[in-house]
Amino acid sequence: MKRTTLILLLGILFCSVSAQNKITLQVDSAGTQISRHIYGHFAEHLGRCIYDGIYVGENNTTVPHTAGVRNDVIQALKELKIPNLRWPGGCFADTYHWKDAIGPKAERKPIENLSWGNVREDNSFGTNEFLNLCELLGAEPYLAVNMNTGTVQEAVEWVQYTNHASGTSYLTDLRQKSGRSKPWNVKYWGIGNESWDCGGDMTVEHYINLYKQYATAMTSYGNTEKLFRIAVGPGSPDYAWTEALMKNIPARRFEGISIHHYSVIDWSNKGSSSKFTDEEYFKTMQQAWRMEDMIRKNAEVMDKYDPQKRVALIVDEWGGWYSADPEGRGQLYQQNTIRDAMIAGITLNIFNNHADRVKMANLAQIVNVLQSVILTDKEKIILTPTYHVMEMYKVHQDATLVPARLTSNEFTMGGNRLQAISVSASKDQSGKLHISLTNIDNKNRQEIDIGINGLKISGMSGRILTSSKVQDHNTFDNPANVVPKIFKDMTLSKGSLKVNMPPNSVVVIELN
Ligand code: AHR
Repeated sequence: MKRTTLILLLGILFCSVSAQNKITLQVDSAGTQISRHIYGHFAEHLGRCIYDGIYVGENNTTVPHTAGVRNDVIQALKELKIPNLRWPGGCFADTYHWKDAIGPKAERKPIENLSWGNVREDNSFGTNEFLNLCELLGAEPYLAVNMNTGTVQEAVEWVQYTNHASGTSYLTDLRQKSGRSKPWNVKYWGIGNESWDCGGDMTVEHYINLYKQYATAMTSYGNTEKLFRIAVGPGSPDYAWTEALMKNIPARRFEGISIHHYSVIDWSNKGSSSKFTDEEYFKTMQQAWRMEDMIRKNAEVMDKYDPQKRVALIVDEWGGWYSADPEGRGQLYQQNTIRDAMIAGITLNIFNNHADRVKMANLAQIVNVLQSVILTDKEKIILTPTYHVMEMYKVHQDATLVPARLTSNEFTMGGNRLQAISVSASKDQSGKLHISLTNIDNKNRQEIDIGINGLKISGMSGRILTSSKVQDHNTFDNPANVVPKIFKDMTLSKGSLKVNMPPNSVVVIELN
């Protein structure tokens, strides 16, 4: 054998990291339900998310639509089983006046989007359009209330307009006139957004007092459904903010606390979404893994005051954030690559594993903004690698978490170390066990030994999302470049399932 051939063979051998990865499934400890709302989304009036991305208008003749909403987007979101949608922001929510965007379209007040690019919006997509869309998708709406330039009265009236029975007031008469008689019964209400920054730059003391005014009034109008009120939590590791909320807001006044975490390598130099180096990739993964720490530490503070876990932790903005695409397809528009699939795989596993406290999460953002599941260009559409991960992971929605103990190989760079493997598992109502695995190592295959002692397995199948380069993505000309495939690289022997994952891959296994 030639020396070069030998080196090549050794290279291939060493590319497959030996089996130090071990997973033990604790089937007997299963009990916590993974809320389907962990798989939620976020739509803000920002760039081409709402106008053009979701809504093309009732009079559009080139893109097929239902009441102005793109049919291709509707179909793709239904396929995802989208459980909820947060709207209208983000920072935008804190300057939004809902009454400007109801009633006959020609009479609606055009606005300047003060948060995002000072563009003019004609308000043709407002409360009715949003809530009707959620109804069509079978998704729970999650409204963010304007706490900065808005008033308590405005928020209270929004609850009446959306939730109260017909005939109760001029607000429900207005709803009736708009063609909608029965209430939508909106359960989820965010009170403010990033109130420590774009939402008013408040101190936590100021926020708490204001929050209590909103939360008291919004629930004191005899509304039919009990509201789920979400207070603004910290956007950074500011656990004192969380502590102040837990200590000072009476339990009967809030149901959730929201946190935000973006995987950004450097806020002043975010880097390209599709042309990035190995170092940038590693830094993004470090940021993605920080979600674990943020959840754990916030949960620790919450546990102190709420050991029964009555108050939910809601991660209502998360995802990768890079420099806007130079193609100029809109504000905060970015491509979505296998790197984003890795962020999604890790993050959703983290959420699943913390399902006892994390009851909802919203990927930022649904179409054409940040880590989108869908990108659009006129009549064309792309389902991104992140879409495919969300779709593969949907088996966990409302399933019972099966805790997984993991020993993982390391993925290292320049002396920094990360876990290469991430895992979560659940049992669905029909008894099927699903294991979702992510290998973020972009050089090495990973062999994983999953202990399945005591499990009766009559069948197994798997799906994989991967590509040879971590920069790989779908384009409008090649929308199926990165799509899930059948995964077969696993073997079942007594008491153990051996899985062999290629670099940069997400695998979901189903065991019957
Ligand atoms: O998702 C984009 C922006 O990020 C949101 O408007 C804001 O809440 C966050 O800072």
